[in-house]
Amino acid sequence: MSTIIDNKAAPPPIAAGAAKPKKIIPPQLVRGMRDILPSEWRYWNFVTQQVEAQARAYSFGRIETPILEKSNLFSRAIGTTTDIVEKEMYSFVDQSGDHLSLRPEYTAGVARAYIEHGMLSLPQPVKLYSLGQNFRHERPQAGRYRQFWQFNFEVYGEGSATADTQLILLAAALFDGLKLPVAIQINSVGCPTCRPAYRQALVDYYRTKRSVLCEDCKRRLQRNPLRLLDCKQEACHALVQSAPQMVDFFCEVCKHHFVRLLEYLDEVELAYQLNPYLVRGIDYYTRTVFEVWGQDEARSVLAGGGRYDNLMADLGGPPTPAVGFGGGLERIINELKIRDVAIPLPVTPDLFLASLGEAARKKALKLFEDLRRQGVLVSESFTKDGLKHQLEIANRLGVKFALVLGQKELMDGTIIVRDMENGIQEIVDLKKVVSEVQKRLQAHQSSITSTAV
Ligand code: HAM
Repeated sequence: MSTIIDNKAAPPPIAAGAAKPKKIIPPQLVRGMRDILPSEWRYWNFVTQQVEAQARAYSFGRIETPILEKSNLFSRAIGTTTDIVEKEMYSFVDQSGDHLSLRPEYTAGVARAYIEHGMLSLPQPVKLYSLGQNFRHERPQAGRYRQFWQFNFEVYGEGSATADTQLILLAAALFDGLKLPVAIQINSVGCPTCRPAYRQALVDYYRTKRSVLCEDCKRRLQRNPLRLLDCKQEACHALVQSAPQMVDFFCEVCKHHFVRLLEYLDEVELAYQLNPYLVRGIDYYTRTVFEVWGQDEARSVLAGGGRYDNLMADLGGPPTPAVGFGGGLERIINELKIRDVAIPLPVTPDLFLASLGEAARKKALKLFEDLRRQGVLVSESFTKDGLKHQLEIANRLGVKFALVLGQKELMDGTIIVRDMENGIQEIVDLKKVVSEVQKRLQAHQSSITSTAV
């Protein structure tokens, strides 16, 4: 026997002493994550289109690597003493006992793919770009998310400073296309030949000032002294201005590379700022490093990268010079909003299809499909009754024409075409509506073009 449940019946009274029904708490976003709602997508599309335009202009092919990789790929590539590996990776052991991490950046995974797919046998340089989501368990704050989007460009197999120059030019072209004023910061962090002496000079300098350093910098002094130059704490930051500079320690090869880079950049008349204290939070860099800063007060880092000639060999692959950079979409979009950059509006539909009554609605469903197949962008509101209400929606959407299908039109085999600008209505043969609509849309388009000329 089945039990019939009456949903509308009043709930049974709660017996004295019985537990109260639990309040259901609606699910919430994980901290540091965000939803991208439909109203936001025009910003994302704007940036994505620029990334793709530059990838085409500079001949980069797209590569997407998995979001999950073995954890030790990242610790080997990024460095075990970096904040990313020490504190920020989302890592876990899966059902097979593999130690996996959500990627905190693209470079390590793309380098793995280059080795694994034998891309050294392809004509060099190999130029690859990516666009997707990365994860870092950072303290959430403005421009810092735990899941964030990056675009990423890498050039493999080209050791000369021309590759560094072209990437910096690509970055400049990208921000130019986004209409964002930026400051490009450039430095060189040397190589394993000359960096140890610089590292020692930094340790000697900071050791005498240990008492004023923040707790993080005291640790960095032991483990990663270059990162002291990057500390935002006031007391530590004040010491940077008198700290030793890498330029005084360059080996011949690093010096030559840096001079060449600056010559090339001067040749193409690119505006940049030499920043002797620019270091990056990742260990794989050798020689060139650069960042793109927003020109606001916060100087938020919109993109950053550099050369990393030893990574391939360090990962067990064939020695291959490499250079690349990545940019953060959330930060760039934030900058676009702050600067009020005009972003193209989403494409609006050409037509609105209004229907009155059940029979007309049935016909309208079919007509919608016919128009869609012919490439006409139509919107509708099949769930709404009442012509007034439907035309209000059409108005709000900014369509040029509304089609109205009521009982009478249905019986006559006709449909009303209403010009939403001047309210003039015409009755046309339902069978010819697609061509009639196309004719009117074309006429409308050419009238716009001729007024614009
Ligand atoms: P990165 O500087 O760590 O470099 O990140 C690149 C960009 O990603 C940053 O400039 C920033 O815009 C954005 N970003 C980083 N972390 C966050 C976050 N938590 N929330 C929002 N945006 C963020 C790299 O990742 C290197 N793999 C770049 C590279 C490519 N170097 C060589 N090739």
